[in-house]
Amino acid sequence: MGVATIRALYTELPEPVGVARDPIAGAILPRPLSFAARLASRASSERSAERVHHALGLASLGMTYHVALRTRAIDDALRDALSRGVRQLVVLGAGLDGRAYRMDELAGAAVFEVDHPSTQRDKRARLRGARIEPRAREVRLVSVDFERDELGASLAREGFSADEPSFWIWEGVTVYLTRAAIAGTLSAVGAASAPGSRIALTYVPPREPWLERALLAGGRVLARVIGEPIRGFVTPEEVAALGREAGLFVSSDEGADEWSRRYWSSEYEGIFEWERLVILERR
Ligand SMILES: C[S@@+](CC[C@H](N)C(=O)[O-])C[C@H]1O[C@@H](n2cnc3c(N)ncnc32)[C@H](O)[C@@H]1O
Repeated sequence: MGVATIRALYTELPEPVGVARDPIAGAILPRPLSFAARLASRASSERSAERVHHALGLASLGMTYHVALRTRAIDDALRDALSRGVRQLVVLGAGLDGRAYRMDELAGAAVFEVDHPSTQRDKRARLRGARIEPRAREVRLVSVDFERDELGASLAREGFSADEPSFWIWEGVTVYLTRAAIAGTLSAVGAASAPGSRIALTYVPPREPWLERALLAGGRVLARVIGEPIRGFVTPEEVAALGREAGLFVSSDEGADEWSRRYWSSEYEGIFEWERLVILERR
C-alpha cells in the first residue's frame, strides 16, 4: 500500500516530474491513502508540483523518487518485451501492481500474478469494489510462498507455458526474502524461461554497516507491524552469479542515477538509491 500510494501520487503530478502513471493505485487504495495522494497532488502547476516532489523526496530519504522512477523503468522494459512479441507476463510478489489493469499493450497477453493468497484476496476485493476489469487478455492468480512453494509447478497448473518467451517482474520483493528463496525462485524462473525471456528484478545492495543496521532495525519493527522482515541484501555481482546459475544473463543493471538523468534530465537528488534494477535474459 505504501508503494501504491507513491504511484497514486505520481499519477496525479504533472510532467515533467510525473513520469509514471498508475491510475489503478489511487482507485484501489484505502480512502485515507488515496485522499492523501490526491491532496499532495493538488499541485497542478509545474512549479508547485516540483515543490511537492522535492519535499516528499527529502522527507522519504528518496523513496518517493525511487518508486516513481522504478515504475517507469519497469514499464519501459515490459513495453519493449511486448513489442518484441512476448505474450506472457509473470508478476512475482504482485501486491497492488496495476499493470494488468492499466496497460492496453497487454491486451494480447496472459498475466500471472504471484503472491501470498491473503494479499491476493485483499487485492481482488479492492478491484471488485472499484469495478476495475483487466486490460490484459487474462489474469491468473497464482498462490506461492517463495520461501516454501514450487513456483514452476504452480505456474504450470495455471496454464503458463515454459516453451514460449515470457517477461517476469520481481519488483520490491527480494529484500524481504532469504538468500535461499531468492536463489530458488531465480532457478525456477530460469527453468521456466524459453529463449528470449527476461526478468526485471529489483534488489537492495548492501549499505554502509551503520545504515544496514538501521535498515534491519527498521525491518524488525516493520515485521512486527505488517509481517514483512527486511533481510535480502545482495551485491550486483551476487545477483549476476545467481542469474548465471539459473541460465539468466545480465542485460542491464541500473539505478536511480541513470533513471533520473533519463526521465528527469537531472542528477538524482535522493539521499539513498534504495534499489537497483537488473534485467536478466535467457539467450
Ligand atoms: C513491497 S510489496 C511490492 C509489491 C509490488 N511488487 C509493487 O512493487 O507494488 C512486496 C510483495 O511481496 C510479497 N511477498 C513478500 N514475501 C513473499 C513470499 N515469501 N512469498 C510470496 N510473496 C511474498 C508481498 O505479499 C507483497 O505483495
